[in-house]
Order: sequence, then structure tokens, then C-alpha cells
Amino acid sequence: MIDIDAKVLSSEVLAEGLIRIILHAPEIAKDAKPGQFIQMLVPGEAHVLRRPISLMAMDAAAGTLTLAIQPKGKGTQLICSAKEGDTIRCLGPLGTGFDGNGAETIYFVGGGVGVAPVCGAMDGFATETSHAFFGFRTKNHVYGMTQAPCAVTAVSDDGSIGEKALVTKPLMEAIEAKRPDLIMACGPTPMLRAVQKIAGELNIPCQLSLEERMGCGIGACLGCNVKVNLEDGSWTYKRVCKDGPVFDSKEVEF
Ligand SMILES: Cc1cc2nc3c(=O)[nH]c(=O)nc-3n(C[C@H](O)[C@H](O)[C@H](O)COP(=O)(O)OP(=O)(O)OC[C@H]3O[C@@H](n4cnc5c(N)ncnc54)[C@H](O)[C@@H]3O)c2cc1C
Ligand code: FES
Repeated sequence: MIDIDAKVLSSEVLAEGLIRIILHAPEIAKDAKPGQFIQMLVPGEAHVLRRPISLMAMDAAAGTLTLAIQPKGKGTQLICSAKEGDTIRCLGPLGTGFDGNGAETIYFVGGGVGVAPVCGAMDGFATETSHAFFGFRTKNHVYGMTQAPCAVTAVSDDGSIGEKALVTKPLMEAIEAKRPDLIMACGPTPMLRAVQKIAGELNIPCQLSLEERMGCGIGACLGCNVKVNLEDGSWTYKRVCKDGPVFDSKEVEF
């Protein structure tokens, strides 16, 4: 983990309400793994908490990190207003990341801004028999479909791309046709809860990437604690920033 001034190589609209920023951050890119994130200092707001942002892609050779950011509140709006040539203080890589575990067939599931870390996971672990399932609001919100390393099925809330359905529909159909060895998912909580239920009922190993409000991002403040279930039936708290953001779905208590 290192704290550096990362140079903005480009910042452009990726989809409706989503900005793609490519950073030159070789010190972070060389150690980064799919599913990890960085803590970005908000430009001009050194006194406020940093914002956690997932790695959509990392290229150790080029020394770059690709991010997809929703300008939601003031912090992400200021980050997204950075221009080519600006620098943004970034701490990373942080968190545990996904673990391919040598799985032969992985089904990837992404919803909305959660598609970004799933793209990183696909780059790291997709095999020929793997398949990704993405859910978007409309066709204007679509991203991450081109240059995907495995087959992708997209659905949308309004039917303007793919079926008008929840992403769990094509996921279930694919599972019925061929059971995967592993599922990796990131997206809104209702989507994660539905994926967790499917994986639990069918006893398919599954990793979920969680989002939680964060303070330090490095495991020191306990601001991102979530309740997790232990194998012996008891429970404990874990830190999303340090013990996650990726958790075994059996552990997660929504
Ligand atoms: C591990 C992780 C990865 C993430 N990856 C991405 C990503 O790739 N792209 C993306 O667009 N968003 C991502 N987010 C969500 C993003 O961090 C929040 O949307 C952002 O911090 C909100 O800040 P804001 O200033 O825009 O909003 P505001 O609502 O103005 O923020 C107010 C306060 O709440 C905190 N806060 C609000 N929502 C969150 C949240 N979900 N997580 C942590 N802190 C929050 C902020 O730190 C701030 O202190 C990720 C969150 C986590 C935890
Ligand atoms: S954000 Fe401080 S412990 Fe996780």
C-alpha cells in the first residue's frame, strides 16, 4: 500500500452518469489485484474523508489504473471534475480482492457501478467457459461490454438493452444449463442478496464485493464494520476495507 500523487491521463464520459478516469499510478498498479480499491483524496478538500473507488482495470506494464466513477455527492463530483494532467492523491491498493481459486467456470454478476470491479475480476479470472451477467438501468447506462474476455449477457430495467429483467434471471437460466464452479458479484444490495440466496440454495461457492461508508480505508477506525457469520454459527464484525470488500457469500449478513 502506498500513498501517491496519481496523474490523470484522461477523464471522459463512459456512460450516462458515469465517468471513466485513467490514472498513471505505477506504484499502485504493479501490486493491484482484481476487486481491490483505492482511497482518493477529494481535490481541494484535504480535510474531508477520502472516497473509496474500485479498480475497473489495472495495467502493471503501463502503470495505469482505470476507474468508473458515479459523480454522486460533492466528493465524487470534485474527483470527476479533474482534468487531464491534474494529480489526485491516491492510497492503495487496498482490500482483499476476488480470488479465482483455480475455478474453471466462473459466472460474474455486476449491477450498475458494480460492473466496474467485476470487469477487473473478468480480466483476472475469466476462462473460455465463464460468462458475465450485467444489469443496467437503460441502454444509455451500458459499459464494460466491449473487449470483455468472456461472453456477456446484459439486461436492463426498461428492456432497452437485452431482456427487461433482473440480472438474476439470465444467471439462473445459465446455472440451470451449466453449473459454475464459482460466482463473483458486485452491485446494489438487493442484487447481492438475490445472488447470495441462489448460491446458498444451490451450494455454489460465491464471492460478494460489499460497499460500506469508509473512514480510514486501512482497518484502523472500524467505521466500515459489518456483521459476518462464522462457520460455528456465531457471528463477529469484520472491516469491509481490510477484511473485504470481497467476502465469501456464506459469511455475509445483509
Ligand atoms: C470498496 C468500495 C468501492 C467503491 N467503488 C466505487 C466505484 O468504483 N465507483 C463509484 O462511483 N463509487 C464507488 N464506491 C462508492 C463511493 O465511494 C461513494 O459513492 C462515494 O464515497 C460517495 O461520496 P460523495 O462525496 O460523492 O457522496 P456524499 O454523499 O456527499 O458523501 C458523504 C459522506 O459519505 C461517505 N459515503 C457515502 N457513500 C459512501 C459509500 N458508498 N462508501 C463509502 N463512503 C461513502 C463519504 O465518504 C462522505 O464522507 C465504492 C465504495 C466502496 C466502499
Ligand atoms: S474504513 Fe476505517 S476500518 Fe475500515
